[in-house]
Amino acid sequence: MQITDKNEFHNKIKRVIITEEQINKAVEDAGRLISEEYEGKPLLLVSVLKGAFIFLSDLTKRVTIPCEIGFMAAKSYFEGTESSGNVQITMDLSQDISKYHVVIVEDIIDTGRTLAEIVKLLKVREPKSLKIMTLLDKPDRRIVKIDADWSLFTIPDYFVIGYGLDYGEYYRNLPYIAEFSAE
Ligand code: IMP
Ligand code: MG
Repeated sequence: MQITDKNEFHNKIKRVIITEEQINKAVEDAGRLISEEYEGKPLLLVSVLKGAFIFLSDLTKRVTIPCEIGFMAAKSYFEGTESSGNVQITMDLSQDISKYHVVIVEDIIDTGRTLAEIVKLLKVREPKSLKIMTLLDKPDRRIVKIDADWSLFTIPDYFVIGYGLDYGEYYRNLPYIAEFSAE
């Protein structure tokens, strides 16, 4: 699928559910929380690409203590709105995480499959501690039992787009979070 038409692009944005202002406020609070919790400790923020790229970027700007960032990539969605059910780690971290307190920075916990796989993988490497911060949580959709330590917004079972989250690789560039219109 390729979209080049501006109207076609905008027609699929059903309604904004979390505004830019709401996101900014929550991200600022989250940055403050991390800065307090990890002061004096070696901190590594691990982002799961691609969905969390904007959240990680905005969050790190609100962290006021020394920190490093690392990237992983996982694929569990192909095209469409349904999870494939099998999670593939397509890019791994370069850091030795046994030296760090690790915070996984996620875009959304939906079925929980992706995060459960990532947590399993990282725990084996024995980080000093491991916590999860997610921008969005859809608890109604959970298949694998896993919870975030910090969740900025809990949402109903909508397929959402924007602020890093995509539909078929589009809509990541929206500055807000919107419900996607399937029609
Ligand atoms: P999981 O079902 O918890 O494994 O979610 C895997 C990934 O699917 C998330 O990290 C997102 O990248 C993507 N995802 C889940 N729900 C949505 C959604 O509502 N919009 C866009 N992407 C989603
Ligand atoms: Mg993701």
